[in-house]
Amino acid sequence: MPCSSFVKRRRRSTTVAVTVTIVVSLACLNCVLAGTYRSSGIYSATALPPQEIEYGGATAYGYGAPDAPSVGAPITRKSQAFQIVNQWKYLDFEYPTFGQRQKAIANREFIAENNLPLGVDFYKDRIFITTPRWKDGVPASFGWLPYPPQEESPPIRPYPNWEAHGDPYNPDCSKLISVYRTQIDDCGRIWLIDSGIVNATVSLSQVCPPKIVAFDLRTNQKVVQYQFPADQVKQDSLHSNIIVDVHRNRCDDAHAYVTDVWRFGIVVYSLKKNRSWRVTNYNFSPDPVASDFNVFGLNFQWLDGVFGMSLSLAKTPDEERILYFHPMASFKEFVVSNALLKDESLWPAKAQDFAKYFLPIGERGINGQSSTSEIDRNGVMFFTQVHRDDVGCWNTKKPYDATNLHRFLEAEGNSTLIQFPNDLKVDHEPKQSVWVISNRLPVYLYGQLNYEDINFRILKADADTLVQGTVCDTRNYGHHHHRHELVPEYLFH
Ligand SMILES: *[C@@H]1O[C@H](CO)[C@@H](O)[C@H](O)[C@H]1NC(C)=O
Ligand SMILES: *[C@@H]1O[C@H](CO)[C@@H](O)[C@H](O)[C@H]1NC(C)=O
Ligand SMILES: *[C@@H]1O[C@H](CO)[C@@H](O)[C@H](O)[C@H]1NC(C)=O
Repeated sequence: MPCSSFVKRRRRSTTVAVTVTIVVSLACLNCVLAGTYRSSGIYSATALPPQEIEYGGATAYGYGAPDAPSVGAPITRKSQAFQIVNQWKYLDFEYPTFGQRQKAIANREFIAENNLPLGVDFYKDRIFITTPRWKDGVPASFGWLPYPPQEESPPIRPYPNWEAHGDPYNPDCSKLISVYRTQIDDCGRIWLIDSGIVNATVSLSQVCPPKIVAFDLRTNQKVVQYQFPADQVKQDSLHSNIIVDVHRNRCDDAHAYVTDVWRFGIVVYSLKKNRSWRVTNYNFSPDPVASDFNVFGLNFQWLDGVFGMSLSLAKTPDEERILYFHPMASFKEFVVSNALLKDESLWPAKAQDFAKYFLPIGERGINGQSSTSEIDRNGVMFFTQVHRDDVGCWNTKKPYDATNLHRFLEAEGNSTLIQFPNDLKVDHEPKQSVWVISNRLPVYLYGQLNYEDINFRILKADADTLVQGTVCDTRNYGHHHHRHELVPEYLFH
């Protein structure tokens, strides 16, 4: 298959790029050791600059964006669209004792520069964050931070505890190995996709099968653990995103959809059956036209397939829903009925017969590549714009075309607040917020992160305020309007 050779070719070039990076990184570490290292308390014992960050005059802790007007100037809604919740130059972890942390640094179980945050989620008073094992020196790949924030650059606390996290050199597959993304359902559970892959950017190694794990957030107990059967994991698969579909709020009737971004499939897991199946479709493939990226002065090609997924509000009395999805290397958005995904009897036997029920609905335009997306209770979809360092919205009741899509930061004059937005969530609070994490991933992979700079940010915005007055505002779009038939009726029967 041509796809497979593309993937392999890209992998090889990644390895070359990263080898170069490591040399540079060591050189830089030495220069830091030689002169600029200043100890700043318990959390900065590595040879990295201290985390203190100047806020450019903002007063309220955690809510002054560097781009925001200084104190005294009127703060308008637009320049405050996204508020910074936490930000880091580099990541740190909270160890039970100072000695344990020192030991982890000494034996290279913890290498601060190798840790890059990827997934973000929010539940009540906790922010969840994933740190996949891209390289060695990631001590735990899933953790949490307190909310409201008590520190600007807090150390990550492993979730649910240190013991739940496996050792990449001696992997116990019942433990967490390399968590990529998460999703919280309406039943108070957080679902994770653990890729089982370590060293993903250096010399990729599938040390354990991918697995889905869920924890009950009220008790922090593990309530689901399911390893993918071998025949659903392809050579070079990377399972990196997960969403959860709970039927009529019946918590035991849930399905998880997991995207395989490198081998272009969606693995569907039924909690009731405790079984999974692999769904394939040609619309899961990357579009070569959208595979060329130019960001931060770096040019690279990513042939990443199906990636972002979001579920519509229930559309029919039997609660059938639309799954919106897009490959990472694509400017297009697609739809399919969740009923097709949930029907195990179709996969793989009838894959050909149902191929045409996966439909494109429109385009975001050039540089419109998106990682993740999610839909709020008003039916507004929020999505990342990785090539444009932005976040977009779309009122799902309208046709998907450029006139109905809005980008928040471009509207504010292209701020640099969000550099490579890599994950996005809409939370479960009565008044919903949009959460975004940005991580400069391409610089980590192909360049050199500057650890004197802010590299990672978690931001949030009130969902209603964000869309107010934009083309996504649902209040300007009354119920008397005819519902657009984005998906032909036959999909619902
Ligand atoms: C990751 O790759 C590096 C470089 O090839 C290697 O030294 C290290 O042992 C690998 N780590 C694991 C856990 O396989
Ligand atoms: C689900 O299936 C897996 C293997 O297919 C098994 O190991 C696990 O125990 C099952 N879980 C439950 C709750 O039955
Ligand atoms: C913002 O970005 C858009 C599209 O990338 C560009 O057309 C526009 O000129 C930029 N505006 C500013 C103020 O830089």
